[in-house]
Amino acid sequence: MINNKTIVLTGASSGIGFEVLRLLVKGGGNKILAVSRHAEQLLSSFAENVIPFNMDISTKEGVDAVFEKANEVFEGRKIDIFYANAGFPYYEEFNYEDWDRVKVMFDTNTLSPIYTYAKYLHHLDGRDGILAITVSAIGQMAMPGYAIYSASKFGLQGFQQAIRLEAPKNMQITCLYPVATDTNFFRVANPVPFEKPFPVQQPDVVARKMVAGIESGKKFVSPNPLFAVSKVLMGVCPPVRTVYWGLETAKLNRFKEKLKALGTLSAAATADEGADLIKKGKDAVQAILNK
Ligand SMILES: NC(=O)c1ccc[n+]([C@@H]2O[C@H](COP(=O)([O-])OP(=O)(O)OC[C@H]3O[C@@H](n4cnc5c(N)ncnc54)[C@H](OP(=O)(O)O)[C@@H]3O)[C@@H](O)[C@H]2O)c1
Repeated sequence: MINNKTIVLTGASSGIGFEVLRLLVKGGGNKILAVSRHAEQLLSSFAENVIPFNMDISTKEGVDAVFEKANEVFEGRKIDIFYANAGFPYYEEFNYEDWDRVKVMFDTNTLSPIYTYAKYLHHLDGRDGILAITVSAIGQMAMPGYAIYSASKFGLQGFQQAIRLEAPKNMQITCLYPVATDTNFFRVANPVPFEKPFPVQQPDVVARKMVAGIESGKKFVSPNPLFAVSKVLMGVCPPVRTVYWGLETAKLNRFKEKLKALGTLSAAATADEGADLIKKGKDAVQAILNK
């Protein structure tokens, strides 16, 4: 159990972050700054030791504001644990020219934790601290349908690998590598429902393993044992990976068929467009599923 700590947790309002928050709340004496764009609406009366803070962490100003807020609510005490967890995916065939759509994902998933590391390093100024980061299994093995997301998490993976070689001994760095986890992630990835990658884990299980990993000083937390085993297996027997990728590519192809039936191949459908498309195309999709 993590106790008596000052903690900043981004992406605290949903999914893995929310389950981590629930565990941290149980630790005696913890004070948690819970950050997301909708934290104040979702966590306003969640627990006495949780201070919700609405902030977009995809910008320099957003991350600066989180550190300023932490300084205010922790009354100048250092941040014992900074958990950079917020992130999001797209599920799509990457076939469009849209600089800003790609940029916002790198800003959120890659640049923000990188900038956070530098700020936290200066904040600690030689004192002990823990930086936790949610990377992803996809940061170690790319997946069809997740080209931009894979790239953003591979970037983060490269960063954490390099800073471990430089980081001062006063900073523990614990990285999380979840496989598909049943959260809002998949609704954010595309408003049109699609098949999740195999296997799927529950967020409370992932959170429990991550919190235990942070507490015991682990460098890496892979919450699904199958992923660790399959990485070794795919390393010694690459055709296993080819078969797995084939199955996941088939899912993407079925999704593309579904979009076609819905009357669009646009990867950039908004949530409203998606809801509308789902309504209009319900019968067409049902026909495909019934085949
Ligand atoms: N679920 C999976 O299959 C899976 C697998 C591997 C890795 N991951 C990683 O796990 C982390 C958590 O994802 P999740 O699965 O828990 O998804 P989730 O349920 O969608 O939660 C994402 C959280 O991040 C916040 N967030 C997103 N963009 C933000 C921004 N720009 N500024 C501040 N907060 C932001 C969201 O809140 P607001 O919308 O209120 O801002 C929400 O609290 C992410 O880094 C994700 O890439 C997930």
